[in-house]
Amino acid sequence: MIIAPSILSADFSKLQSEIEEVESFGAHWLHVDVMDGHFVPNMTIGPVVVSSIRPKTKSILDCHLMVNEPAKMIPWFLRAGADVITFHLEAVENVTGHLQMIRESGKKAGVSIKPATPVRSLEPFLGDLDLVLVMSVEPGFGGQGFMQESLEKVKWLAEMKRTKGHSFLIEIDGGINPVTAKACRAAGVEVFVAGSSIFGAKDRKKAWEELEAVIR
Ligand code: DX5
Ligand code: ZN
Repeated sequence: MIIAPSILSADFSKLQSEIEEVESFGAHWLHVDVMDGHFVPNMTIGPVVVSSIRPKTKSILDCHLMVNEPAKMIPWFLRAGADVITFHLEAVENVTGHLQMIRESGKKAGVSIKPATPVRSLEPFLGDLDLVLVMSVEPGFGGQGFMQESLEKVKWLAEMKRTKGHSFLIEIDGGINPVTAKACRAAGVEVFVAGSSIFGAKDRKKAWEELEAVIR
């Protein structure tokens, strides 16, 4: 089980020490929320942030592209040092082409779906995915409430892994805390994105340990 702290909720004025702090708790994935102001009504992190933290961390940089033109931006994040690049199913026509672009660079490729997108729309691609990112909030901002209906999507994905032998990781993103993480773990989640529940906590180490205890 993996916790991927979302740096969107970190203090960007001291990003390196924020990363070092969560890594001191045991983090070895960092979730990087990239937003272009078009696919979602917010604008956040560009490749320059990834290239500046790349030499400072050995963590897996798990880049979540909430952007309208992933084909244009994927090469930027590959060059910047991303290890996992996830784009949105809703933003592309040619899913396989985008996956190939990432995988031929030796990096891991994921697809994410928004709450309103049926999980079965992923079925044709499951054999080519390293990761599926189920949004449990409407993409765009940290600190939102967990959407329970995302658990049904996780259960279906876990069933597809069991019955079809697929090897993609199931990642959940949005509103994850010790309560929601427990239900997600039971449904089959393997990677837990947590932004505000970690970086927004008064005692971050305690928040990390509580979350870790639930998903163990
Ligand atoms: C929302 C982002 C999420 C968000 C998670 O668009 O994709 O990764 O930052 O933040 P919390 O954990 O606070 O919901
Ligand atoms: Zn995200």
